[in-house]
Amino acid sequence: MSTNRTFTMIKPDAVENGHIGGILEKISSAGFKIVAMKYTQLSTRDAEAFYAVHSERPFFGELVEFMTRGPIVAAILEKDNAVEDFRALIGATNPAEAAEGTIRKLFATSIGENAVHGSDSDENAAIEGAFHFSGREIF
Ligand code: CMP
Repeated sequence: MSTNRTFTMIKPDAVENGHIGGILEKISSAGFKIVAMKYTQLSTRDAEAFYAVHSERPFFGELVEFMTRGPIVAAILEKDNAVEDFRALIGATNPAEAAEGTIRKLFATSIGENAVHGSDSDENAAIEGAFHFSGREIF
């Protein structure tokens, strides 16, 4: 069964490059409602836990280093078909392959520093949202 929520992070590269406003505008214009949001910074332990599924990948160390180097914006978004529609809005993991008009095409610089995260399944959206937010932070 598909649910109507997904989880996103505006990653350190996009924050450093001044793209928080531009990315939130794209999210809002695409019809997503923000039901939880915070400006925060991941610790090494946070990033290692969040990306545990990638721990055997050769880029894991680089990924943890990148995701902890500065603040991020974490958010839970609501819309019908949220997971699939949000992945279409952000575009391919590698910005060089992302479609015109997608968030990664507009704001990302490389496959590693790709501006935004979007959950890849309803199950992971729920896990990732709960990683960052308690029940009383979700509206
Ligand atoms: P995301 O899909 O949000 O979550 C996994 C992240 O790993 C991905 O974004 C990229 O930031 C990173 N990643 C994926 N593939 C590579 C790669 N080949 N080299 C470096 N980082 C990568």
